Amino acid sequence: MAEKTVSFRWLAVVTAILLELLSDVKATSRSWADESRIVMPGITSFTQKGISGTKWAVLIAGSSGYGNYRHQADVCHAYQLLRKGGLKEENIVVFMYDDIANSFENPRPGVIINNPQGSDVYHGVPKDYTGANLTVDNFYAVIRGDRAAIQGGSGKVVDSGPDDYIFIFYSDHGGPGVLGMPTTPNIYANDFVDVLKEKHAAGTYKEMVVYLEACESGSIFEGLLPEGLNIYATTASNAEESSWGTYCPGMYPPPPPEFMTCLGDLYSVAWMEDSEVHNLNRETLEDQYLSVKTRTSNHNTYSIGSHVMQYGDTKFKTHQLSAYLGFDPANENVTRPHALQILQMNKLFLEPTESVGINQRDADLLHLWQKYHRAAEGSQEKMRIGKEIFDVIGYRIHLDDSMQLIGKLLFGNDVGPIILKAVRPAGKPLVDDWGCLKRMVRTYESQCGLLTQYGMKHMRALANICNAGVDTDKMASVAAKACVRSSFPREAWAPIQAGFSA
Ligand SMILES: *[C@@H]1O[C@H](CO)[C@@H](O)[C@H](O)[C@H]1NC(C)=O
Ligand SMILES: *[C@@H]1O[C@H](CO)[C@@H](O)[C@H](O)[C@H]1NC(C)=O
Repeated sequence: MAEKTVSFRWLAVVTAILLELLSDVKATSRSWADESRIVMPGITSFTQKGISGTKWAVLIAGSSGYGNYRHQADVCHAYQLLRKGGLKEENIVVFMYDDIANSFENPRPGVIINNPQGSDVYHGVPKDYTGANLTVDNFYAVIRGDRAAIQGGSGKVVDSGPDDYIFIFYSDHGGPGVLGMPTTPNIYANDFVDVLKEKHAAGTYKEMVVYLEACESGSIFEGLLPEGLNIYATTASNAEESSWGTYCPGMYPPPPPEFMTCLGDLYSVAWMEDSEVHNLNRETLEDQYLSVKTRTSNHNTYSIGSHVMQYGDTKFKTHQLSAYLGFDPANENVTRPHALQILQMNKLFLEPTESVGINQRDADLLHLWQKYHRAAEGSQEKMRIGKEIFDVIGYRIHLDDSMQLIGKLLFGNDVGPIILKAVRPAGKPLVDDWGCLKRMVRTYESQCGLLTQYGMKHMRALANICNAGVDTDKMASVAAKACVRSSFPREAWAPIQAGFSA
C-alpha cells in the first residue's frame, strides 16, 4: 500500500530520532554624508528630493508559544530599529501575542533577544494588539486606518495621508496562500492584497514597502500583487519552499546555552542586521535585497535557506531605505569596510558545512527535542515531553497521510499525488477561486482536524483540488472516508475548540 510507505518513512525518522535521544549522543571614519549628494547622471537622488510625509509601520508576529520565540523577537527588534531610525511610537503599530518575555520557559524573564550577543529588544515595545486581540480583522483595519472596525487593543491604526510612507513587516509560519495567525482564521493572500488595493484606492500613502518572512511567502504575492500600487515587497522564500529559523540550539552560532529555542529567522535577522551596519540614507532597497538574498541563501549556494523574492513596483529598488526605515544618525559614518567586516564575521555562519538554520516547520519540534534532551533521565518531565513529541509527530503523520489518501480517492492512486503537488507556472496565483480554497480548508478541517502550523504546507494540495474543479460535497465525502478512523488526539486540534483556520 503506497499510502503506508509515508507512515513508515515518518516512523523510521521518529524512531531514529528517539533512539538518538535515548542513547544521549551530544547533542572609519570617512563621511558618506556628503557623498549622498553625489548622484550618477540620470539618477535622481531620492533622499535629496526630501521626504515630507510621515513614516508609518505595521509590525506583526503571527505566532504564539515559546517554541516560536523567534517571530516575536524579530518583531520587537524591528520596533527598536525603527525607533532608532526616528519613527515615532504613535506611528508604529505592533501586533504580538506577548507570551514570550514573561513565559516560565524564558531563561531571561522580561527580556527578549534576537541575536546570541544581542541586548534586550522587548523593553518599550508598545502592546497595541496582543493575545486574543491579535486578529486578522484588526490587522486589516489597522492597515486601512479604519478605527471604527477595530475590536480591542490600543485602537492605534495607520492614519496616513497621501504623502506618507508605510512599512509592513510580518514574521511567522505560513503556507501556500496563507500567513499564520495566533488566532483563527489565518491571513489569506487574496484578502491581504485586496486590503492593499483598497488602501491604494483611498490614496492614503505615497509608497509602501512590505517585508514578509514565512514558508512559501512568495505565494502571497505571486500572480496577485500588480505593479502600479506603489508597493514594493520582498519575501523570505519563493512560493514553494520553507523559510528558515536561525540562531538555533545546536547550530552555529548558537544561542546562549540556556536557550532551548531559535532566537530569530534567517531573512528577518538578515534585513535587520544589514540595516544596522549601513547608512540608510545611502543604502537602497536593491542593495538590501541583494545582501539579504545572499545571507538567506547561504551565500547563493542554497545549500540551506531559501530564495528571497521581489514583487510589485520593483522600480522603487533604487530608493533609499531611510524613506521607510528612517535614519539612525549613529550609522552616519558606517563605512563599507566596516560593513564588510561584519559580513566577514557572518561568513562563519555561511560555511556550507555549518548548519545556519532550521526550516520553520521543524523549529517547534527542535524546541521540544531540546527540552526532552535536557530533562532529567527518568523524570516525569521527560516522559511528559516524550509523549508530547509522539503526539505532535503522530498528528503530523495523520495530516500527511490523510491528505495523500484524499488525493488518491479523488484522482486515483497514480495521478493523485502528482495533482496535489503540482506547482502552477510563475506569475499565476495559487488558486483561481479563493472562496473555494477556504471552503476546502473548512471541509478538510471538519473531517480531519485543524491543519495547524505544520499542515499549512498542504494548502497547495487543497488549492489544486479546487483548481481541478472538485466541489465541497465530493471533498466532504472523500475526507470523511480518509479520516474516519482518526480522532483528534487533542482538543486543541479540533476546529470546534479552536475555530477553523479559514
Ligand atoms: C484586548 O483589548 C482590550 C481593550 O483594549 C483590553 O482590555 C484587553 O486586555 C485586551 N486583551 C488582551 C488579551 O490583550
Ligand atoms: C561623522 O563624521 C562627521 C565628519 O567627520 C562628523 O562631523 C560627525 O560627527 C560624524 N558622525 C558620527 C555619528 O560619528
